[in-house]
Amino acid sequence: MRRHTLSFVSPVGMAAFSLFVGTACLDSTPVQQQPHEPKTEAPVKKVVPGAVLPDDPRVAMFKPALPAEFAVRGGTASEDKVTLGRLLYFETRLSKNHDVSCNSCHSLTAYGVDGTKVSTGHKKQQGSRNAPTVYNAAGHFVQFWDGRAKDVEEQAQGPVLNPVEMAMPTAAKAEATLRSIPGYVELFKKAFPTDANPVTLANAASAIGAFERKLVTPSRWDKFLGGDADALTVDEQVGLGKFLDVGCNACHMGTLVGGGMFQKLGLVKAWPAADDGGRVMVTKQEADRMMFKVPSLRNVEKTAPYFHDGSASSLDEAVRLMARHQLGKEVSDGDVRAIVTFLKSLTGAIPQDFIKAPELPASGPKTPKPDPR
Ligand code: HEC
Ligand code: HEC
Repeated sequence: MRRHTLSFVSPVGMAAFSLFVGTACLDSTPVQQQPHEPKTEAPVKKVVPGAVLPDDPRVAMFKPALPAEFAVRGGTASEDKVTLGRLLYFETRLSKNHDVSCNSCHSLTAYGVDGTKVSTGHKKQQGSRNAPTVYNAAGHFVQFWDGRAKDVEEQAQGPVLNPVEMAMPTAAKAEATLRSIPGYVELFKKAFPTDANPVTLANAASAIGAFERKLVTPSRWDKFLGGDADALTVDEQVGLGKFLDVGCNACHMGTLVGGGMFQKLGLVKAWPAADDGGRVMVTKQEADRMMFKVPSLRNVEKTAPYFHDGSASSLDEAVRLMARHQLGKEVSDGDVRAIVTFLKSLTGAIPQDFIKAPELPASGPKTPKPDPR
């Protein structure tokens, strides 16, 4: 038997129904209605133009849906390691003046960002790049805007010693601080039971990485990917259609709707600001000038301002600039609205209990004092 799958809006345009209409059944009343209802009272049905449903072949490029956590090479980290990582993520004593932690610039209650153009670290110094979110970051193919760290474990060693971030002068100083806190000595032993000397900066970063691998934010979009058309509203389905038609998915694809490749910023039309060359600074290859990691668009509604330099303050503006510079297209206000409506469906749930600020172990008599210099 031939079956058609159709999408409908009710006369008031409130809801979409997916419906199977058998060829033998001439009455195409939506399944939600009483079967005895007279045909004349059936709502006027209309296929919503441009709405994309989960069975559209183009949706496959965004699968699979988000996993419960991003696996670390060699399997899942122990609970002890994750617990330690969670404490260290909030640990300001890993900074020179005991006033900056990972959470200062990647606030877990604020979708993993600081909401500013560029971040402020030690002595109120500013960096030159916008802080990306740590949520789902462990799933990116590389870390940083220019991909200079291969994974979250490698990444997490950087900020502690970075002079404009946490500004610890040496790894030895950071390690001495951790060793001076009796609670941490115990926690590192538990998390790294086979290490003769477990309290190291490398192990601290490894534990923070294990914590970050669990910072995932599943959303309605994942239900949609799983086949539930109603997980997105009709407007969001139409927005997805626009996103695909305009061609955003050439770069923003996969589980994270990005996070899987480098691309040239200003691919079709040169990007106005070229002082930060992106990946060329890492590889010294001219071909990498203006190459940046394509960011994930998950939770993008919540992570303004946008781009590596934080130059776009609204999502509308970011979408318009992307269409112009990456695809050579001028999009209408309506198209921008539709795409933004879709992008908001990528906002997921924050694991509130998991990310609660923990009570940190007390300093010991030898713990160094804050150093404001
Ligand atoms: C002073 C602000 C600041 C602090 C403190 C800080 N970060 Fe960041 N973080 C940034 C900025 C800015 C970037 C982007 C830098 C770049 O790409 O060159 C970044 C990048 C990252 C990334 C890469 C994400 C991606 O999408 O590529 C991760 C992961 C991350 N930080 C985790 C951490 C962890 C873990 C800590 C604590 C050990 C930390 N950060 C401390 C500002 C900060
Ligand atoms: C040719 C590849 C490419 C295409 C096509 C593309 N993008 Fe991007 N997108 C990027 C890159 C690369 C960046 C990072 C730019 C930077 O370094 O600031 C980015 C950044 C973004 C950002 C900012 C995210 C953040 O966290 O700062 C948004 C939003 C975005 N893109 C949406 C879109 C939309 C919507 C479309 C379609 C109109 C689109 N992109 C098309 C490559 C692309």
